[in-house]
Amino acid sequence: MQTVNRHLLGLENVSADDIRLLLESATQMMEIAERDVKKVPTLRGRTVINLFMEDSTRTRISFEIAAKRLSADSINMSASGSSVSKGETLADTARNLAAMSPDAIVIRHPAAGSARLLAEILDCPIVNAGDGSHEHPTQALLDLLTISQHKKQFEGLTVTIVGDIVHSRVVRSNIYGLQTLGANVRLCGPPTLLTSEFAELGCELFFDLATAVRDADVIMMLRIQRERQGDNYFPTLDEYAHYFCLTEEVLADAKSDVIILHPGPMNRGIEISSGVADGPYSVMMNQVSNGVAMRMAVLYQLILPGDQGIRGSDLADKHVDPVLKVAGETGVF
Ligand code: CP
Repeated sequence: MQTVNRHLLGLENVSADDIRLLLESATQMMEIAERDVKKVPTLRGRTVINLFMEDSTRTRISFEIAAKRLSADSINMSASGSSVSKGETLADTARNLAAMSPDAIVIRHPAAGSARLLAEILDCPIVNAGDGSHEHPTQALLDLLTISQHKKQFEGLTVTIVGDIVHSRVVRSNIYGLQTLGANVRLCGPPTLLTSEFAELGCELFFDLATAVRDADVIMMLRIQRERQGDNYFPTLDEYAHYFCLTEEVLADAKSDVIILHPGPMNRGIEISSGVADGPYSVMMNQVSNGVAMRMAVLYQLILPGDQGIRGSDLADKHVDPVLKVAGETGVF
C-alpha cells in the first residue's frame, strides 16, 4: 500500500506557493483537453476511488474524467447501493476501501470533518471534494484558475461573493485561497445567512447587493442551500430574489470588465437571472472546463511521490481542528 501521506483537505493552510504550483500545473493540463486523444500515461497503473456520499454532477464527473485523462483507473462509489445502507460507518467503509490499495481517495460527504477523519486513519492521499459546510478546496482552486485567466493578478483584486454564505463550503475555501493570494473578499447576503464570524476572517460584509457589486472585479453568486437550512432564513424565495438576485439591472452599475462566477448548480431567477448567467460577463462554463484540468493537477501532485511531480509539493494539511461546528452542524470528530 502506498504510504505517501499527502492530502488536500482544505485551503486554510495551503501556502501561496502551493496554490500557484497547482494553478501552473492545471494550466499545463488544459492542453490535453484540446487533443484528439485526450489521455496521457502519467498515472497509468494507479487507482483513484471517488467516494461520493452526497449528490454531485460537476465534481464527481470531473474527478472521474481527470483520473481517466491521466490513465488512472477510477472507481465510483455512492451511498446508495453500498453497505452504508446496512449501517457501516464511514471509517469502516474507508478502511475497507484502503485495504484494496487505492492510490488516492476523493471524498464528498455531508459531514464537516469527514475528509480529515479519513486522512487520520488511512495511509493514501485524501482529497476533500466537499465536506458539509466546511470546505470545497478543488472548487476554489478551479475558481482561482478561472479568475487568473481573466485578471492580471490577485493582489488588490476585489471579489464579491453573494448568497447563502453561512452554509457554503465554497465560500470558505475561496476566502482562504483568495486572501492567501492577496485579493480582497467582500461577502453579501441577508444578515441571517451572513454572520459576524466572517468579518473575523478579514472579509468586508455587505447587506445591499448594489453596493457590494459596485467596483468589484469579480462577482461570485452562490446557491441558496435549502438542504442545509433547518429553519427559515428568509420569508420566501421571491423575497430573497427581490433583494439578492443578480440581474442585468444590478449589473449595469458594475465594472465594465467584471466577470461572473457561479460554482453550480444554479437556481435561475433566485440568485442569478438567466440574462446574467448566459450573458457576456459569465465565465461559468469556463469554470466547469477548468475543473477537469485542476483536478488532474491535484491528482498528479498528490499521487506522484516527491520529485516525480512537477515539483515536490507539500500539500499536507497537518493541522488538526477541534470539533468543527459550522452553521450548527457538528463534524464527525
Ligand atoms: N460545484 C459543485 O460542487 O457542483 P456539484 O455539486 O455538482 O459537484
